[in-house]
Amino acid sequence: MFTEFMEMVEARFSPDAVDAMLDRAAIGHDGAYTAVGHYPHEEMVRLVGALSEQTRLPVPQLLEAFGEYLFGRLAVLHPNLLAERPSLFDLLGRLDDTIHPEVLRLYPDAQLPRFSVVSRDAGSLALRYDSPRRMEELAKGLIHGAAKLYGLEVGVRLEAVAGDDPHVIIHVESTR
Ligand code: HEM
Repeated sequence: MFTEFMEMVEARFSPDAVDAMLDRAAIGHDGAYTAVGHYPHEEMVRLVGALSEQTRLPVPQLLEAFGEYLFGRLAVLHPNLLAERPSLFDLLGRLDDTIHPEVLRLYPDAQLPRFSVVSRDAGSLALRYDSPRRMEELAKGLIHGAAKLYGLEVGVRLEAVAGDDPHVIIHVESTR
């Protein structure tokens, strides 16, 4: 995730933007991330925060853009994980029993969210997202990226549910 994030900043902004972001985030090392390494979630928060200050774009917007970019990369890097998913809703409905467990096998330190289907019909899916990291905007971007792969256009709306067991319901609706 970190290497891909660096690449996105370099491609969408510039190599200088990467350096400026690293300086601003003051993460205490040179940002030489590796694809196999594992880094604290807090560091991603600092990097995105620094990029937001620098670009004056809001954090949710940056996370969503990153999610969309990331899905395209994941599809290239791990085609086998996506090969047997006949539809977008199928893919989204089975993240917890297929894709993310496989991720955990490859990267035992990965910190993954939990997803479960709340309701589903032909044109809409409500997905419950649970994660202490609260990266629902990243999820939204990933879903847009995935939809593209299936040639679909979808609307994605996030509904935060407060209370003793806070979580987010992600409403996905296909628009064509
Ligand atoms: C549309 C489909 C997907 C969605 C909505 C999704 C959602 C997410 C979200 C929101 C996170 C951030 C962590 C958190 O929220 O707690 C995450 C982490 C991650 N996901 Fe997924 N994901 C999807 C597909 C995939 C695929 C296809 C792969 C790999 C082939 C993948 C691999 C990972 C990895 C490696 C992490 C990082 C774990 C870490 O930082 O330790 N995801 N996913």
